[in-house]
Amino acid sequence: MAHTLSRKIAVFGAGYIGLVTGACLAELGHDVVVRDIQPERISLLQSGQIPIYEPGLGDLIIKNKERLTFTLNADEAVARAEIVYVCVDTPPTSAGDADLSRVWSVLHSLEGAAHLAAVVVKSTVPVGTGARARALLDDLGLHGVGYASNPEFTAEGRAVSDFLSPDRVVIGASDAETASLVEELHRGVDGEVVVMDIPSAEMAKMASNALLATKISFINEIASICEATGADVGNVARAVGLDHRLGPHFLQAGIGWGGSCFPKDSEALKQLASNTGYHPQLLSAVIEVNNLQKRRAISKVKDLLGTLEGATVALLGLTFKPGTDDMREATSAVLAARLLAEGAAVRCWDPLARPEAVEPWASTTRCESVLEAMTGADAAILVTDWPQLREVPWEEARGLMRRPVLYDGRNLLDPAAMRDLGFRYLSVGRP
Ligand code: UGA
Repeated sequence: MAHTLSRKIAVFGAGYIGLVTGACLAELGHDVVVRDIQPERISLLQSGQIPIYEPGLGDLIIKNKERLTFTLNADEAVARAEIVYVCVDTPPTSAGDADLSRVWSVLHSLEGAAHLAAVVVKSTVPVGTGARARALLDDLGLHGVGYASNPEFTAEGRAVSDFLSPDRVVIGASDAETASLVEELHRGVDGEVVVMDIPSAEMAKMASNALLATKISFINEIASICEATGADVGNVARAVGLDHRLGPHFLQAGIGWGGSCFPKDSEALKQLASNTGYHPQLLSAVIEVNNLQKRRAISKVKDLLGTLEGATVALLGLTFKPGTDDMREATSAVLAARLLAEGAAVRCWDPLARPEAVEPWASTTRCESVLEAMTGADAAILVTDWPQLREVPWEEARGLMRRPVLYDGRNLLDPAAMRDLGFRYLSVGRP
């Protein structure tokens, strides 16, 4: 890829964002060291293995191995860097705000690094973090080190292409020099660069995720109204999405959104607003509609079975979406916990996810195939729209079940065809 100047960059955090950022910056020609605090993760990466599943990432890491190294040693990473990228996670605190302790700990580790040109935060942080970070850098004597916010907009499963061909690159900086430096790092990236002040860049990230989550909750609410009125949400979404002012994306009704971003970020934005005394009514409703959507699936299955006590339910797909092994805030965990609480036994299948032996998964049975999961089940819930689920021999699967109840939480299958096969088939917002 074309680039003018190769920079030395230290990326802090070897998670989904840090690894993609590091590998893509190396692909753009920069010299990158990725630092993490987990020894097992760094040893894996040093031995050429990738600790997460992200399409294209492994190839990119191998292709750029001359320019991409991994270390546990923060001082060493910072000593030879011109720019530090902060890509650590910001999980929710028990109050629902973003926990910034990992971000602060990276910034503290920069003490004495006055040779740095800039610190760039990619982690999703509440608006106002930039000002606090600037004050901390100044306290550490790093007055001459620039600060920028460069939020990420990559979606798991296509993070590499989202990074290299994004809709936009947002750069928030307080001075023009730092903004140009970060812009220059992205030379070779095929997307519009938008430079702005730091709080606006931080807010642009939170607002984007909140609007995406709003679109999904909106169509899920329309789906519930469709169910009560006989309309088909698929047809409705198609017609609505053809309006160029609205667009067709993120109007797929389903069992509710999950993942490492939307639940955490929507709650963090809600808390950020609440902390200022503003009651974010729309955002609160978006979150509530999503929580209810997951519970509705269980009530519908319960209605069909009479009771869940003593029933066996198969969960088909566990990850929060297909194309990833990520189980964070996956809808499947809410369903499994609710089913167990109602006295059901849970059998689960997923082509990639390997849930840890913690609750609710410790109390469920893991199956190697869809057919195995459905054997003896009173109901099956299609949770993640893995393409493999289109290819299941459904007639055979129905024959293995004790009762043929199928709840398609992603509207993946054809209702008429499934009913012809003898299923008591339910989906989201379709007659
Ligand atoms: C999301 C955003 O799409 C990215 O732009 C953002 O950078 C990222 O969060 C982040 O903040 O790091 P991601 O969480 O990887 O990316 O996943 P999405 O593809 O957005 O899906 C999120 C959830 O919404 C999934 O559970 C998915 O099944 C659900 N979804 C999505 C729907 O139910 N309906 C839709 O129409 C679209």
